[in-house]
Amino acid sequence: MISIKNAKKTYKMGGEEIKALDDVSFEVSEGEFIAIVGPSGSGKSTLLHTIGGLDSLDSGTVTVSGDDLASLKDKDLARYRNKTVGFIFQNFNLQSRYTALENVELSLIFGGIPKKERMNRAKDALEKVGLADRIDHKPPELSGGQQQRVSIARAMVNSPKIILADEPTGNLDSKSGEMIIDLLHDLQKNLKVTILVVTHDDRIAHKADRILRILDGKIVEDLSNGKKETVKEYTD
Ligand SMILES: Nc1ncnc2c1ncn2[C@@H]1O[C@H](COP(=O)(O)OP(=O)(O)OP(=O)(O)O)[C@@H](O)[C@H]1O
Ligand SMILES: [Mg+2]
Repeated sequence: MISIKNAKKTYKMGGEEIKALDDVSFEVSEGEFIAIVGPSGSGKSTLLHTIGGLDSLDSGTVTVSGDDLASLKDKDLARYRNKTVGFIFQNFNLQSRYTALENVELSLIFGGIPKKERMNRAKDALEKVGLADRIDHKPPELSGGQQQRVSIARAMVNSPKIILADEPTGNLDSKSGEMIIDLLHDLQKNLKVTILVVTHDDRIAHKADRILRILDGKIVEDLSNGKKETVKEYTD
């Protein structure tokens, strides 16, 4: 479903070249749950951003359902980012001036869906993440775990095929993190969403079908479910 071939991305900083992605190739099947692990600066976020169409490659290709992202017109790329992909960030990326309901609803504005339907769908999504009684709260009036659940509702309200999550439990206590992990798992199981999650959290890595380890912009290990017992050795 997702195919990454010879992906390269270099950043130039004051004469120094940083290879954020150094010839990365792998395939992702529909409905797969992949954990991406590796030390800070190894290229994990860069990889997620290129798959999500937020960032382009210097060379190589990202193909999703047969479409090379680099060949999409601006409008189609915008639609891809909004409809096909749902993002979840470590710092939630919610609009603090808007309520939970409005934050989720914002995702639907792009599609030209009438106000009433937007409200209903946003409410529905917030109910699914257990926040029916918090829809009128603004992010500063919510706990970290609740804010992350709002961002999951926002990511799933467009029924995306792919969820890209960057350290979704990084800012949460262990109980809230557990709930987020269960929600991601439910999305995979019930809605067959393909999930790529960057994480340092062993609990996520253990639930994943597959674990990719990145080091200096390269994939150095690609472990599937059956070998999960060795995971602990190499997650950091
Ligand atoms: N906009 C940028 N300009 C210059 N260098 C960048 C930029 N974005 C990322 N880099 C560099 O590219 C490398 C990979 O960055 P990336 O954010 O993908 O790492 P990461 O694995 O997500 O790290 P972390 O776990 O700390 O989030 C890093 O060395 C980083 O300094
Ligand atoms: Mg990162």
